[in-house]
Amino acid sequence: MAEIFAEYKTFIIFLHVISAVVWVGGMIAMRFAAHPSFMQIESPAHRLERIAHALKGLFTIVLPFVVILLVTAIFMIKGYELSASEYSSFSHAKEGIWSIMTINLFVMIIRRNRAVKLLNEGDMAGAKFSLELIGKYMVPANIILGIIAIFLGTTLSNSF
Ligand code: HEM
Repeated sequence: MAEIFAEYKTFIIFLHVISAVVWVGGMIAMRFAAHPSFMQIESPAHRLERIAHALKGLFTIVLPFVVILLVTAIFMIKGYELSASEYSSFSHAKEGIWSIMTINLFVMIIRRNRAVKLLNEGDMAGAKFSLELIGKYMVPANIILGIIAIFLGTTLSNSF
């Protein structure tokens, strides 16, 4: 693994960075550009339907990049021997952040699917509650965690 990292270092770091761009950037665009626009839709049913549809698109786009982020991180952990280095705490912090972000993402996927089911059953209040949690707390939490992970990455790359 360390040999592969040494040979393809630029490409592996590129994949790591572009994955963070898509994951964190996608959530920021959804929360701060698309979401306020959806809120202008007057019909609650139509509004919730559009939000659920857009979230499905976002989750489908980011999922492969979540995996690429982890795979490239493993290459860097091995390639830089991070666990045995003085930067191990940074590496562990980033591993923890990735794990929390990924668990949060899967809970959001489950909540969105439940909201769609409730919408189809005509339970508008239940669907609204499920989607509200995603928009108000879960996406912002992942944006903040992602920004912290990017800052730690910048600190690491500056230290090598
Ligand atoms: C899973 C555990 C992770 C590990 C072990 C890890 C490790 C690293 C390392 C070693 C670097 C420096 C690469 C170099 O310059 O040679 C880096 C950079 C970076 N990481 Fe991570 N990372 C992890 C997760 C994440 C996550 C979750 C994000 C964001 C969502 C992220 C975003 C970035 C970015 C944007 C850079 C580039 C910073 C720069 O070049 O200034 N990383 N990461």
